[in-house]
Amino acid sequence: MTTPALVLAPGRERSLERRHPWVFNGSVAEVVGGPGPGEPVAVRAADGRFLAWAAYSPASQISARACSWVEDERIDEAFLEGRVHRAVAARSYLDHRTDAVRLVFAESDGLPGVIVDRYGPFVVLQLSSAGAERWREPLTAVCGALPGVDGVYERSDVDARKREGLPPRRGVLAGAEPSADLLLHERAAWSEEDAGARSWSFGADVRHGHKTGFYLDQRASRRVVATLAAGRRTLDLFAYTGGFGVAAASGGASDVTCVDSSAPALSAARENLIRNGVTAQLVEADVFRYLRELRDRGESFDLVVADPPRLVSRAQDVNRGSRAYKDVNLLALKLLAPGGLLVTFSCSGLVGPDLFQKIVFGAALDARREVQVVGRLTQASDHPVLLSFPEGAYLKGLICRAA
Ligand SMILES: C[S@@+](CC[C@H](N)C(=O)[O-])C[C@H]1O[C@@H](n2cnc3c(N)ncnc32)[C@H](O)[C@@H]1O
Repeated sequence: MTTPALVLAPGRERSLERRHPWVFNGSVAEVVGGPGPGEPVAVRAADGRFLAWAAYSPASQISARACSWVEDERIDEAFLEGRVHRAVAARSYLDHRTDAVRLVFAESDGLPGVIVDRYGPFVVLQLSSAGAERWREPLTAVCGALPGVDGVYERSDVDARKREGLPPRRGVLAGAEPSADLLLHERAAWSEEDAGARSWSFGADVRHGHKTGFYLDQRASRRVVATLAAGRRTLDLFAYTGGFGVAAASGGASDVTCVDSSAPALSAARENLIRNGVTAQLVEADVFRYLRELRDRGESFDLVVADPPRLVSRAQDVNRGSRAYKDVNLLALKLLAPGGLLVTFSCSGLVGPDLFQKIVFGAALDARREVQVVGRLTQASDHPVLLSFPEGAYLKGLICRAA
């Protein structure tokens, strides 16, 4: 029987040779052996040379996602188990800092389309490609067998699945169901010297919350915000369940206001503030409108954190999304007292660091503020970026000081 294969058009092998894992449908000259969705295929150059093993995605513009460049590798259960264990071992340094960790970050960990997040005794799987979909059972078995795991839950309800022709899926895959009051803990030492001095706990609604329940990617930036907050009047925009609000308040902010348009997120924020022994004002509002209200009231702040949702999801939305980023940063800069800090983020992969900095520069010009970048932030280290896959770098943040 022929091994299913994709044969590339002449000259289209360069990207795979440089270990970029995506094979776009425009590069494929021939599909051999009738592979089904998610099935492993050998990707070959036009001259027949083996390039990589990949998972076939017939419905997507990305026809295949490579997971191995070793010709005699078999993409089977042992392979998947090896990849998960390798990724888990690489994060063991985080064990003493938190019990909520991204164990597998998709392409960056050699498992395209697969996210595995651990929240204490629960593992959450998010499968967003046809290959990942096909790996559900073996991945559930591997994750369920990790030490201390009581249950595996699926949160495959992301938009990316539509592009793969896959319906949303959510529910228990193995073992116990996570409760609504699942807690995660982060050691909140700002430096090695005060290691263990403080810790935060946050509720994570694994079944209905954003992402897989919590913004694990902002772990390192929460600590940074805590170090910046002492004595500062703080505004946490797009606060969700109050991660940055809790950080600022426990870092000694003089007062904290958390703003979000979601009532359930703010009620979870209230519980997070209480369980960490700090206080903040919670405001349910549209940030764009509320910032104008604050401006009109002549309010000012010493620290503003802005962490909007992804405002650009498709290439054709870059201009519109950039205007929205500019708007929020412009309004935030106008509210800053002299010497105030703006910690501003974009989680849109299509808005690169250079463009984001240009947007914030445009906002500073319009706000007539002289602004220095005094720090740069990125996704937490359990969301690594494979150098051959720069698309994995999606979260960028600037710490700006306004004169
Ligand atoms: C990226 S999340 C923020 C994550 C949060 N900073 C954290 O670390 O947990 C974006 C948040 O923005 C909120 N949101 C989206 N559009 C909004 C708007 N126009 N006004 C206020 N909040 C909004 C969503 O409800 C969501 O909680």
